[in-house]
Amino acid sequence: MTEATANPALHALNTRRSMKFLRAPAPKPDELAQILQAAMSAPDHGALRPWRFVRIQGEAIGRFADAALDAVKRSGDPRMTPEKEKSVRAWMAEVPLFLALAAKIDHNSKVREQEQVLAAGAAVMNILNATHMLGYGAFWSTGLGTYVEEVQEILGLDPLEYRFLGYLAIGTPACAVPPANRPDFRDFLTEWTGAEAAVK
Ligand SMILES: Cc1cc2nc3c(=O)[nH]c(=O)nc-3n(C[C@H](O)[C@H](O)[C@H](O)COP(=O)(O)O)c2cc1C
Repeated sequence: MTEATANPALHALNTRRSMKFLRAPAPKPDELAQILQAAMSAPDHGALRPWRFVRIQGEAIGRFADAALDAVKRSGDPRMTPEKEKSVRAWMAEVPLFLALAAKIDHNSKVREQEQVLAAGAAVMNILNATHMLGYGAFWSTGLGTYVEEVQEILGLDPLEYRFLGYLAIGTPACAVPPANRPDFRDFLTEWTGAEAAVK
């Protein structure tokens, strides 16, 4: 029995790949609702629900590209060359749906900011997996002015309150992508038994 038949959910987790080049159709409204609902199951210290998503779709994508690129250029970022701008615009023009991602920080909570950001990141991961499980592609990027305050403000995410976590592009993969070559988990795992500490 293959992993796909023995455990389809695990198989889906293990076969997710980021897809940068996307086109229409985007997930249908009921599918997007399922995808976003999956984000609500992220672990969340203190039940603060810090995750926030701003949907940008249709003609709004072009308007956002104009506003964000202008802000990035005003910020003086030397990487935003005319060639880079052209390629970003061409990429965005094909993507049918963006979600801007943020963590709304509760500064009065005992839960540290890092944990609130991690909860929001976990919610984004659920979105990536749910998108894949429904047969669509997605790509998380921190391009396009994620660290330019003016871009954050354009999205209504006051930098005093929100940590901006970038964007998810979501749609139908524009081309087939081969399976990813994933590392062996053993390279990332160590074991602590306490035995050495007990000897000292
Ligand atoms: C927070 C975050 C920000 C990222 N920003 C970018 C980015 O700006 N540009 C980029 O090429 N990849 C970025 N990536 C990586 C891609 O989303 C993706 O994970 C990577 O291409 C590997 O693909 P995989 O998810 O299939 O392993 C980012 C990933 C994370 C988690």
